[in-house]
Amino acid sequence: MEFQSEMQAAKLLKAHSHIWNHIFNFINSMSLKCAVELGIPDAIHNYGQPMPLSQLIASLPIHPSKSSSIQRLMRILIHSGIFATKIVAKDDHREVGYVLTDSSMLLLKDNPLSVTPFLLAMLDPIFTKPWHKLSTWFQSNNKPTPFETEHEETLWGYACHEPKLNEVFNDAMASDARFVSKLLVDDKCKGVFEGLESLVDVGGGTGTLAKAIAKSFPQLDCTVFDLPHVVAELEGSDNVKYIGGDMFEAVPPSDAILLKSILHDWNDEECLHILKNCKEAIMSKGKGGKVIIIDMVIMEDEKKGNDDDKFVETQLFFDMLMMVLLTGKERNEKEWAKLIFSAGFNNYKITPILGLRSLIEIYP
Ligand SMILES: C[S@@+](CC[C@H](N)C(=O)[O-])C[C@H]1O[C@@H](n2cnc3c(N)ncnc32)[C@H](O)[C@@H]1O
Repeated sequence: MEFQSEMQAAKLLKAHSHIWNHIFNFINSMSLKCAVELGIPDAIHNYGQPMPLSQLIASLPIHPSKSSSIQRLMRILIHSGIFATKIVAKDDHREVGYVLTDSSMLLLKDNPLSVTPFLLAMLDPIFTKPWHKLSTWFQSNNKPTPFETEHEETLWGYACHEPKLNEVFNDAMASDARFVSKLLVDDKCKGVFEGLESLVDVGGGTGTLAKAIAKSFPQLDCTVFDLPHVVAELEGSDNVKYIGGDMFEAVPPSDAILLKSILHDWNDEECLHILKNCKEAIMSKGKGGKVIIIDMVIMEDEKKGNDDDKFVETQLFFDMLMMVLLTGKERNEKEWAKLIFSAGFNNYKITPILGLRSLIEIYP
């Protein structure tokens, strides 16, 4: 094939490079996972100053024959902004040392906002294997999700009898709940819970978010409602209690219902079912009440052309994740409004204060 112009050749090479970049996108995830498993963020943090390569190598639990490969792992993670370097003066020469960035600070074990449990869960083979079944799933009508195509059962069914998955998944969600609760009980969001006497966190996992809310609002009676195997051995406190059950059957009555990362797990029909049960739960208290949803609102159009292209890409990653693991999806505002009104609610308010996710309050 001959190129008619230099421009054509340049276009072809750009396209080639674009595809190669896509082919190897997973290397960013796997390099990050490896760095976390080796404890690199904590090693750099514990060193207390820019950490030279030799010191980093000496501190890691690696075989001596692999020492020379650490620099290559660090190089790609520096390129993607996970780590950075700083030059420090040492005796009579200058030395390059590794430092953390805002992103790798979120990988430290002792950071209360650590996303490490979430990373380790999402990159566990239980969750990555179903991606190899995505095209098989598209070509047949046997299973509702690629997860079930791979594992022969739903994520919730699998977690029910597989303690490792149950633990890894619940830890991941608890770490995310810690992150969100930090923002949610902040002054800017506090108004959301004011005036409420009771709150049920439906699908509230092991109760991290409910406990944080209960601590900030001691007058609020909080209930964590989740599947029996999730809450079975958990003990409540003064204003937090646990109830095992199925949100598709009924939701305990309350002034307000919290649904964090729940509706994106389910398709529209399933969401309508959940929302109608939530409406019944808040109406039965006779006060009107509200449902507080924490989920993404896809900003595909709003952010088009914006320099923050990773924002929308991450939201679209999540939409695909919901397709592969569950029957759910991420929704834009129009899709949210349709769902909310179809479930018999009258009004909604979206507050985009949680980064990739929003606070969506809906009223009967
Ligand atoms: C994505 S997690 C979200 C957990 C928590 N809300 C959070 O964001 O940290 C979904 C939760 O829904 C729960 N769940 C799934 N099916 C359920 C059902 N039928 N009834 C009640 N909870 C359910 C799961 O056990 C899990 O804890």
